[in-house]
Amino acid sequence: MSEDIRPDPTILFIFGAGGDLTWRKLVPALYNLFLDEYLPEQFALIGIDKKDMSEKDFAKRLRDGVNKFSRRGKAEDEQWKAFAENIHSFISADFGELDGFKTMDKTISELEDEWEADANRIYYLATPPGLVETITNQLGKAKLAKNKTRSRMVVEKPFGSDYDSAHTLNEKLLDVFDESQIYRIDHYLGKETVQNILAFRFANALFEPLWDRRYIDHVQITVGESVGVEHRGDYYDQAGALRDMVQNHLLQILCLIAMEPPVSFDADEIRNKKLDLLRAIHKFPDNNIKDFAVRGQYGSGWIEGEKVQSYHEEPGVDTDSGTETFAALKLFIDNWRWQDVPFYMRTGKRLPKKVSEVAIQFKPVPHQSFPSTALEDWQPNRLVIHIQPQESITLRFQAKQPGPIVTLSSVDMEFNYRETFKATPPEAYETLLLDVMQGDATLFMRADQVEAAWKTIMPVLNAWQQTRQVNFPNYRAGSWGPESAIELIAKDGRSWMLPTVMEEDAEESED
Ligand code: BG6
Repeated sequence: MSEDIRPDPTILFIFGAGGDLTWRKLVPALYNLFLDEYLPEQFALIGIDKKDMSEKDFAKRLRDGVNKFSRRGKAEDEQWKAFAENIHSFISADFGELDGFKTMDKTISELEDEWEADANRIYYLATPPGLVETITNQLGKAKLAKNKTRSRMVVEKPFGSDYDSAHTLNEKLLDVFDESQIYRIDHYLGKETVQNILAFRFANALFEPLWDRRYIDHVQITVGESVGVEHRGDYYDQAGALRDMVQNHLLQILCLIAMEPPVSFDADEIRNKKLDLLRAIHKFPDNNIKDFAVRGQYGSGWIEGEKVQSYHEEPGVDTDSGTETFAALKLFIDNWRWQDVPFYMRTGKRLPKKVSEVAIQFKPVPHQSFPSTALEDWQPNRLVIHIQPQESITLRFQAKQPGPIVTLSSVDMEFNYRETFKATPPEAYETLLLDVMQGDATLFMRADQVEAAWKTIMPVLNAWQQTRQVNFPNYRAGSWGPESAIELIAKDGRSWMLPTVMEEDAEESED
């Protein structure tokens, strides 16, 4: 978040205000910003939806969302009442007609007169992707985009479904808005632990000298989820894990881990460095995808003591679906820093735990001077950045066990956010909404970045679209994915690391 705490007067229009995202994420985030006194003093929230809803029902639904999803738990009456004064109105509109957009324009003028100030106008598209183009065109026709410094649009993922569609969508948005007005969300970038990767790498002199091919053996990025596709079967069955998670969240994490040091924390400087990294990713060989990318789909199984159904049985999913719910990739970066260092990534639904972490495995020591009897448990150094659910960083190194005989053991040095800072980190959407209000685009995706990310995965996407995987489902719900994912890394003489939350579970069950 930037230093200027309270943004200028702001009018936030949420398209799709009757939907899930507004209820679960956006309004709980706004409410917490309000409690933390980050919301502008003059602020108006206006819901727009094709659904018809009374203003009273709209406010009631928003409170219900806050009660269920706010990180601070249920809203207290007094606090909610004060926040609810910012809920200005609900516009029921057919997005194909201009009427609703004219009402928006009128509301902006009225509020600016009342506040005696120019206001930021934020158009948040919390709608299905199919509506983005229509709404953008209408905003253009209604002249709602013409204030280049104050008018901003926020677009959610999925941003296109492949390189061509993302490129076309960018062109359409850029017909109406300037790039500086467009905020493309990747909510992973708003997570505290993800943002901290930059602080960790570039605010410390200690790690950067080791951060390259001379000292790092390989990197593993794991983003696992124990949930299935929940109520989003219709969307997910068209998307799959590669589009849903790899193209955006995993590649963004990779960028932060592997990019070159920025000269400044200017939004474009950071985004340029990330773009350089995406462009340096070695192209997947079209004729040999299987050695670099494997896919899986879950069958039924058990997770945390509960029987769960297979992907084919999920609502909204084609019973014969060939969509992947798991993807694992090996990629290389063609530059001086990373040449020949493999980056392994995996993500999937219905894995044993929700866990996101990045493990950086260092090379072994060049010469082992300890006697072999001391080395029973010897392991190379490892740095693990825990993104969620744990928010911490662990550095594993060797220490001598107490006693007259020399025996080495791996031990961990840990920094834990909550314990150190005695605070609950804000939700990603709090950070991102505040940044949009402040006009800080650092944590948002620029058009060229989105397209470069699509370009990276296109060979895999094409290969998977052309050939159907015959053995789906190929992993049991509650396991770490298909056998082929183990092979992908085992062929290089390495193995996936057990995420730390699992190590802890194993230790607890031994006690
Ligand atoms: C979304 C994906 O972008 O990220 C979902 O569409 C996924 O499928 C979600 O569940 C994971 O986000 P988080 O913050 O819960 O890790």
